[in-house]
Amino acid sequence: MSTRPCIVVTGASRGIGAAISVRLAEAGFTVACLSRSGALPTLGGVAAPASELLVPMACDITRTGAMVEALAELTRRGLQIGGLINNAGVHLDAPAASASLAHYEEVMSTNATSVFLACQAVYPYLAERKNGLIVNMGSFFEKLGVKRNLAYCASKAAVGAMTRCLAVEWAGDGIRVLAIAPGYIHTDLNHEAMTAGPLRAYLDKRIPGKQPGTADEVARLVTALFTMDVPFLSGETITIDGAQGVAH
Ligand code: ADE
Repeated sequence: MSTRPCIVVTGASRGIGAAISVRLAEAGFTVACLSRSGALPTLGGVAAPASELLVPMACDITRTGAMVEALAELTRRGLQIGGLINNAGVHLDAPAASASLAHYEEVMSTNATSVFLACQAVYPYLAERKNGLIVNMGSFFEKLGVKRNLAYCASKAAVGAMTRCLAVEWAGDGIRVLAIAPGYIHTDLNHEAMTAGPLRAYLDKRIPGKQPGTADEVARLVTALFTMDVPFLSGETITIDGAQGVAH
């Protein structure tokens, strides 16, 4: 059993969440890998080998009470909850003039309301330890106006706002709250769009280094946040976008 605490990762079966889970386990953390399917993290089509450091668990993060139940179960299994990564999300687009309320609510519920629910659920565990780190997955879209992305941009702006508010409100409990704002990231899930077609041409034009980031780069950044001892770092959204956002 790891001497490091258990970090809970949502959306852990695929993409960035899978990469984060594997990197954290390599760093010696026990990782509760939450996803709708409850599958082990899969990278490049290959499931991570079963390990006592990777604890897969099915959890629909949009259901009220689901995170409370998942954390109680992990505790029953003897794990010490020391951190949370709210990574799960959906990226659905629709024209603003005709987007349905169901579309808006699905995006907000998965990307924003679930973060509120998960942070509330983990609070007693981290407050009792007087030590904990929550990392929320934002997006560089949070500061942009993007056609057909009203709900997505609003949900990620809400993530940034919640990160700031919780960092302030829970600092006295020893809990730090950060967000990551990735730019374009190449994952198993978007391989075709990132390597050919109109998006590829756009990336060539708009990313100074002409390459999207990788899921593993985001994973290494998140793992660094959990392993470096910098208590004064809280409330910030850290952009990882290859300087796209500051390019003129
Ligand atoms: N990823 C996307 N939607 C999700 C959900 N409802 N629960 C868990 N992971 C998800």
